[in-house]
Amino acid sequence: MNVLVVGKGGREHAIVRALNISPSVQSIHAVPGNPAMENTQCHDLSVADGAGIAKLAKDNDCQLVIVGPEDPLAAGLADTLRAEGLFVFGPDQAGARLEASKVAAKEFMKKYSVPTSNYQRVASVDEVEKAMPNFTPPYVLKADGLAAGKGVFICQNQEELLQAARELFEQKTLGSAGDEAILEQFQPGYEISYFVLTNGEDFCSLPLAQDHKRLRDNDQGPNTGGMGTVAPMRIPAVMEDQILQEVVKPTVQGLKREGFVYRGVVFIGLMITDQGPKVIEYNIRFGDPETQVLLPLMSGDWGEAFLKIAKGAIPKLTWSSEAAACVVIAAENYPGSPVKGVAIQGEPLASGDNQYFLHAGTALSHDTWVTAGGRVLNAIGRGSHLKEAIERAYDQAKKVSWPGMQLRSDIGKKALKITS
Ligand code: GLY
Repeated sequence: MNVLVVGKGGREHAIVRALNISPSVQSIHAVPGNPAMENTQCHDLSVADGAGIAKLAKDNDCQLVIVGPEDPLAAGLADTLRAEGLFVFGPDQAGARLEASKVAAKEFMKKYSVPTSNYQRVASVDEVEKAMPNFTPPYVLKADGLAAGKGVFICQNQEELLQAARELFEQKTLGSAGDEAILEQFQPGYEISYFVLTNGEDFCSLPLAQDHKRLRDNDQGPNTGGMGTVAPMRIPAVMEDQILQEVVKPTVQGLKREGFVYRGVVFIGLMITDQGPKVIEYNIRFGDPETQVLLPLMSGDWGEAFLKIAKGAIPKLTWSSEAAACVVIAAENYPGSPVKGVAIQGEPLASGDNQYFLHAGTALSHDTWVTAGGRVLNAIGRGSHLKEAIERAYDQAKKVSWPGMQLRSDIGKKALKITS
């Protein structure tokens, strides 16, 4: 079959790489894609252009459209494409509200008894001030709408919380995404990323992954979209079962009861606390950079698996016993305003079976690879165990350099401790 992938970052490059080794896939198209995607025809079209994407898919006889990022899904791209008779991997607009509105997500969790931390809805500095005594520091303030990873404020004290509230509600730093927010109780513990493929009624789980959200080592510095991932994360079987019973099953039941056309992935951000698992957030698309370490661990045909979900069936996934690690190499000044147009030295196309790059934010300028986004390259390592995968990812990362590049040196360190 021919497949169309919507998106352009490291997550979509990982999907393209998986499709390239899927026997079921003949040709790959991408909107807009990136110039490092192998054997892929990239089309310069906006991801917001639903009619254009439908026409492109039909003109190129694409049986399947895989939508990577959340924004087009929240804008209803899957609905538009399905109305044109296409098979789509991605939820409808109503289902996408679980990520597009943090308030909607919390209300869904409450309705279906999914464990999460206590919260209050707030829409002004005044309301935050009144709600503050009901919580203990550190405080978590989350903008309701989509904010490209910039909507969560973790505040150490009341002054920091009020400052964040002023930024959201008075300075409108996130625009309408910050019209409303959630003030919630911080949960200490460790974070894991749990993914299920679902047809909106049933599901199959992927191995657990762990992201590293802060910019610097030892979870210091500002929050980012994710600076690196490892998979599989091993946690006690009893905890995995608790997640399945208390979080995943009620979530999928909720998707069904709400009547969503949910054919895609639910990415559940979980905090494992002393009181058990608590949901931090739902995402309605694959994680970035979690996808980069999860897809290579499936030994079957991803093209077939995506198509099955898009048609409303549940695939049988078989997993290898390997591990994978991803080290994100970011541009100078990420996550603020990343410095773009800087020439990348070394071998950004260096690729082997067990270590390679995925391109997240690069461009080709007169035959030179340059930085073109915040997260620039993903160095991927695979190995027979986690330690080997991490070593290979770091070995790969050494193959490029540019002034001001940033990477963490401790990706996977916590997972090695928890897992061993
Ligand atoms: N890695 C976190 C995310 O994709 O939201």
